[in-house]
Amino acid sequence: MASDTPRFACQECGHVAHKWMGKCPQCGAWNSFAEEEPQTEVKARVPSRRGARSGEGGKKGAFATGTDGAAARRPRRLADVETEGETRLVTGVAELDRVMGGGITRGALSLIAGDPGIGKSTLMTELGKYLPDRKMLYVTGEESARQVKLRAGRLGVDGEKLLLFAETNVETVADVAEETDPDVLIVDSIQTLFRPERESAPGSVSQVRESAATLRRLTKDLECATFLVGHVTKQGTIAGPRVLEHMVDTVLYFEGDRHHAYRILRTVKNRFGAANEIGVFEMREGGLRPVENPSEIFLAERGYGVSGSTVVCSLEGTRPLLVEIQALASDSRYSTPERTATGFAQRRLQMLLAVLEKRAGLSFSDHDLFLNVAGGVTLDEPAVDLGVAVACASSFRDIPADTGTVLIGEVGLGGEVRSVSQVEPRLREAEKLGFERAVVPASNRDGLAVPEGLDAIYCKRLTDVIEAVL
Ligand code: TYD
Ligand code: MG
Repeated sequence: MASDTPRFACQECGHVAHKWMGKCPQCGAWNSFAEEEPQTEVKARVPSRRGARSGEGGKKGAFATGTDGAAARRPRRLADVETEGETRLVTGVAELDRVMGGGITRGALSLIAGDPGIGKSTLMTELGKYLPDRKMLYVTGEESARQVKLRAGRLGVDGEKLLLFAETNVETVADVAEETDPDVLIVDSIQTLFRPERESAPGSVSQVRESAATLRRLTKDLECATFLVGHVTKQGTIAGPRVLEHMVDTVLYFEGDRHHAYRILRTVKNRFGAANEIGVFEMREGGLRPVENPSEIFLAERGYGVSGSTVVCSLEGTRPLLVEIQALASDSRYSTPERTATGFAQRRLQMLLAVLEKRAGLSFSDHDLFLNVAGGVTLDEPAVDLGVAVACASSFRDIPADTGTVLIGEVGLGGEVRSVSQVEPRLREAEKLGFERAVVPASNRDGLAVPEGLDAIYCKRLTDVIEAVL
């Protein structure tokens, strides 16, 4: 490491500077600069600027120096590297195992981030139920041990193997973890931890990062599975989990609308499996219930025979999800019509409306348009374009779309229906849920295995689709 190490670094993007700056010139983040202390021991555990930017390489290197000693620093033949260490703790809860890449990896540091009140502590406590034979250390800095115990009782966690520890000093946490040697370590939340020798307050960028670095080393040493709970906070003095994303092996987001019962656990990053996998849970009185057939639930309240409703199939990781799209076009009272999208990108909606106007002759200029993805889900896959466009057209013309049809396809600016990836799992899901027809991009036709009992309607243009289903 260079001796003239810069003194300040942006905690968002890793940009370094010799003086503190209010705004990062590289990534534009405000208040993201923190002093890099010339503490060699800690320093070795902190990703270098290069590591923070380029992902894997830098961080692994940084850690090899911290824990494994000289032996691990020599190159080894690939064939000699043991992999048995990377065993997984399988919870048997498909919704969780899938998201974790087939079980919780030992020695992995995971961040579970989400809005306050979304159910992070609940999910973590329930791990005690999912893995009853594993020793678990639950460090809580937000609640008292008594509160956690009450929750655990409500969730039906017996707690034989669950150790509770209400502590916020990361050194003490590390000592206790070393002593108890748990299989699973939960820290709720990382924002409450601090190193006493640091001046900044718990939750500040440097405290969060230092605490995570300590826990990271601990995780690798003890080969336990560690979960850091992180609240997503608005910008300010509290460090958001973004700082942590570079430092952990797995990043999970716990999403959902607090007014809806459904929660989606989504892998944003996973060094031990595929990213973008989702697990669906329902928040109930007695805790989180895994939902193994989410499509059924997202379609449960569907309106039949109502204009503006279509069904799309979005692929979330490996999992096809059928969701209802609702659009409402109504006469606008203002010169600038309103466009509101919930669960779908507003700009994408505007693009689709422009295509409908130019290529299908449906002018929305004097119509307000409201779009809603049912169930509180957020969709960002281009394959749902077609369903969104047809829902808008259906409401505009006030003609209900065929209820037995699923719409799959991306819409291009020319009004063409573009191919999408992995059509077959989508079709299988549609067939499983009793749909009779699926609109599929014509360019996906070659070699496509359409499930029996489902008719594929191949379309090239958005106008053809509108004719076919309205
Ligand atoms: P919590 O796990 O405390 O959220 P977080 O740790 O993400 O801040 O859960 C918060 C909400 O979940 C709270 O409003 C109550 C609700 N809840 C239930 O509906 N059922 C339950 O069994 C539990 C434990 C919580
Ligand atoms: Mg909590």
